[in-house]
Amino acid sequence: MRKTNIAVFASGTGSNFSAIVSAVKTGMIKANIPLLICDNPEAPVIKKAVRAKIRVVVIAAKDFSDRDQFEKAIIEVLRGCGIDLIVLAGFMRILSPAFVKRYPSRIINIHPALLPSFKGAHAIRDAFEYGVKVTGVTVHFVDEKTDHGPVIMQEPVRIENGQTLKRLGQIIHKVEHRVYPRAIALLLRGRLRVRGRKVVC
Ligand code: GAR
Repeated sequence: MRKTNIAVFASGTGSNFSAIVSAVKTGMIKANIPLLICDNPEAPVIKKAVRAKIRVVVIAAKDFSDRDQFEKAIIEVLRGCGIDLIVLAGFMRILSPAFVKRYPSRIINIHPALLPSFKGAHAIRDAFEYGVKVTGVTVHFVDEKTDHGPVIMQEPVRIENGQTLKRLGQIIHKVEHRVYPRAIALLLRGRLRVRGRKVVC
């Protein structure tokens, strides 16, 4: 049986991308990563993919007349690479419901908070400023809504008295780098089933 082909979508630093690539190298994730889709030509993740000898396709939304055309370009690349699973790792663009429907239970995302709390692009800061005592990390299937969909894995992170936002960010990222590869490996073992809103093992 051929290995699952994963496309990682990322827009920025790519620390989660690197964690996933390392987990593929060690054999923890039994899959290939033939493709990185990046929507930001300046993103540091691009260099990381080049170093890892992973094909990078930069598709910037501003080069297209609308989201439909932008997504059509992405779909064409995904088809060409025989992609089975899309892993969003800091991809700061909202995929349309039509795009998501095309890949049922085949798009996953990581979010740096305990969903459904603190959705959006600044979850770590928002949780910190709100003053919650516990935040965390969520890996979930992607549905038609933003930072929404059946939860695969969550890990809490306590916010200690006097902790800085910078330190919290470091801790959250460290947790992400451990949790995301584990969630992907579990998914690839074929043990997860989505029943309504819930993921069961
Ligand atoms: C990660 O913290 C990820 O959870 C977050 O973007 C960061 C990307 O970091 N994603 C979201 O906020 C999605 N709403 P990275 O580029 O170093 O992997």
